[in-house]
Order: sequence, then structure tokens, then C-alpha cells
Amino acid sequence: MVVQPAVAAAPVPHLDSRPQHVAIIMDGNGRWAEGRGLSRQEGHRAGAENLRVVIERFGQHQVPVLTLFAFSTENWGRPRAEVDGIMRLAGRVIDREMTALHETGVRLCHIGDLEGLPKGLQKRVKAAVERTAGNTGMTVNLAFNYGGRADIVAAVRTLVAAGATAEQITEEAIAAHLTTAGQPDPDLLIRTGGEHRISNFLVWQAAYCEYHFTTTQWPDFGPAEVDAALVEFSRRRRRFGLVPGEPGRGG
Ligand code: IPE
Ligand code: IPE
Ligand code: MG
Repeated sequence: MVVQPAVAAAPVPHLDSRPQHVAIIMDGNGRWAEGRGLSRQEGHRAGAENLRVVIERFGQHQVPVLTLFAFSTENWGRPRAEVDGIMRLAGRVIDREMTALHETGVRLCHIGDLEGLPKGLQKRVKAAVERTAGNTGMTVNLAFNYGGRADIVAAVRTLVAAGATAEQITEEAIAAHLTTAGQPDPDLLIRTGGEHRISNFLVWQAAYCEYHFTTTQWPDFGPAEVDAALVEFSRRRRRFGLVPGEPGRGG
């Protein structure tokens, strides 16, 4: 007898074009919880439980790179109990989810300042990154203790420390020293939770990406919302500063 899942997964809609890299600002955990009379920590827990289905759905859409903003450099300024709760939760989520992600071929990368994290969490993140390094499926960048400006400053410092001249500080050189080096820039940036801002996420890499804002709080952002964001993206006409249909200068 074949056991059917309780809720059959909706068929994956056809897309004429799909992003090579989707970045998500997973916002709204606190408000999701407060609206239900729960603690903010319950919201973070529900948000963490949502990760697997969303990653799976992007995998079904064959999106090669997914970046998830889970904790910003500014989030350290939150009340101590909330920060401690998020750090503990992050460790538990890695323990709980890594085997399943590894088995589906996900390659986990970390972007941001790993050294600034509690030692135990650093070890877990490093172990998960190493364990999945040889996987050839979707790349999932976990942006944890990430700040876009800090990313740019670190890249420039690395170049300067290596003796780069002023002429050698180029866009290509900076991009090659960001934590996302070697990956395509995001084509689509999704923010849940209703705010229309970037909050120091991939400020360099998002220069030409498309934005999708939804009022849905992160714990409620499911496969249907993933589909809707990708369908909307496939209808966008990207111009990159050019005039469509006209040859460029010299072209
Ligand atoms: C996003 O949800 C998670 C983190 C920033 C760690 P929030 O905690 O920002 O939730 P809201 O925006 O207060 O609802
Ligand atoms: C952005 O959300 C950071 C993450 C989702 C990890 P915030 O809730 O920290 O951003 P602001 O404070 O609304 O700008
Ligand atoms: Mg928020």
C-alpha cells in the first residue's frame, strides 16, 4: 500500500525564466508570535520550522542558489534573552535539519562573521559546511551575523592588506572578495513581514536584483508564496539601464 502524504504537494508551475539566485529577508517572526499571544521566541521557533519546506520548494523549482537572512549584525542590539534564544535555536536547527538537507544534496555555506558567534555554534556551522561541501545540489547560503556594509569593508581591507593599488580596487576585485565570491548576484530578493527595506542585507550584490515584498510573516510563507514570487519574477522585464530592443553603443 502506498501511503499518501496528508497534504499533496501542489504541482510546480512552469516558469519562462527563473532566477539563478534568490535571497530572502525572513522577517516577521516576532509579529507572527505577538499576534497569537505567544512569545517572540515561539515566533523564531516557528520561523525555523518553516525553513525545510521553503528550501524544498526552491529546490523543486531548480533555483541553484538560495540565501537566507537569519541574523543581522544589527540584531545583536536586541534584548539579551532574545539574542541568546536565537543562538540556541540556531544550533538546534542545524542539528535537526542537516542530515535531511545533506541527503537532498544541498551545499550549505555560511556568509557573515562566523568568528563573532558563540563557539559551540561556530563549530556546528563549520561542521555542516564541511559535511556538505562536496554536494552538487542547491547552494544554501545561511546569512547569520551578516551585514552588507561589513561585507564590503572586509573585502576592501583584504585587497588593501594584499597590497592592491588604487587602480586595482575595481568592482570585479571587490566582488571577488565578498563572502558571496564566485556566486551569481541575487536576481530576486524576497522580504516577508511587510517592510519595504533592505536592512543592510546584500547591499552590493543586490544592485540590480528584482524585489518582491509580501505582508505574509515568515512562519506563514509557504510553497504557494514561493510559487507566486517566482511567477511574478518571470513576468518582470529587466533592463539593466539599457533600452530594450535597441543595440547598445558600438553594437
Ligand atoms: C526576523 O523576524 C528574525 C530576525 C531578525 C532574527 P523579527 O524578529 O525581526 O520579527 P519582527 O519583524 O519583529 O516581527
Ligand atoms: C532584517 O530584519 C534581518 C533579518 C531578517 C535577519 P530586521 O527585523 O532586523 O530589520 P528591521 O529592524 O525591520 O530593519
Ligand atoms: Mg523584523
